[in-house]
Amino acid sequence: MREGTRVSVVTGGALGIGGAISRRLAAGGDLVILNDIDADAAARAQADIDAAGGRCVTVIGDIVEDETVERVAAAVPGRVNVLEHTWVPLARFGEPDDYAAVVAFLASDDARFVTGHTIPVDGGTLAASGWFVRADDQGWTNRPHRA
Ligand SMILES: NC(=O)c1ccc[n+]([C@@H]2O[C@H](COP(=O)([O-])OP(=O)(O)OC[C@H]3O[C@@H](n4cnc5c(N)ncnc54)[C@H](O)[C@@H]3O)[C@@H](O)[C@H]2O)c1
Repeated sequence: MREGTRVSVVTGGALGIGGAISRRLAAGGDLVILNDIDADAAARAQADIDAAGGRCVTVIGDIVEDETVERVAAAVPGRVNVLEHTWVPLARFGEPDDYAAVVAFLASDDARFVTGHTIPVDGGTLAASGWFVRADDQGWTNRPHRA
């Protein structure tokens, strides 16, 4: 890798916003570590970047899974300069303890310098634009591509 090359990790980096970010960063000279759950879409993104003369390493997998995160980390040469995490919802409703844990943290001395903010405790729902009826009509999801 050339000295001074930025390393950019883009999760959900094949389609949509993440796809545009991957292509743009690669066009600007970054080495892009592209993660996506959709292998076909990732292959198309990789082909686009290759054809444009950019550099990209693709890591297929669900970024919610620890094993995928480990493989993404293993693909990074050295350190990460840019981390673009495009897809975060956890595809489940919150449990009471999910909220209690945050309140306990905010009420503790560990949060002594956290002030003037509202902390969303929503499993990524806000980032995912809300809840959607599942494709199989069996309830709701905040990850429409997964159900
Ligand atoms: N497009 C918008 O106008 C808009 C507005 C507000 C918020 N958002 C949110 O921004 C995010 C991206 O939106 P988008 O329009 O680019 O979506 P998109 O569906 O076009 O692209 C999402 C990409 O993430 C990948 N992906 C999905 N789940 C994954 C997982 N678990 N692990 C790895 N990759 C995964 C998909 O395969 C796809 O390539 C979503 O959370 C969306 O709800 C989008």
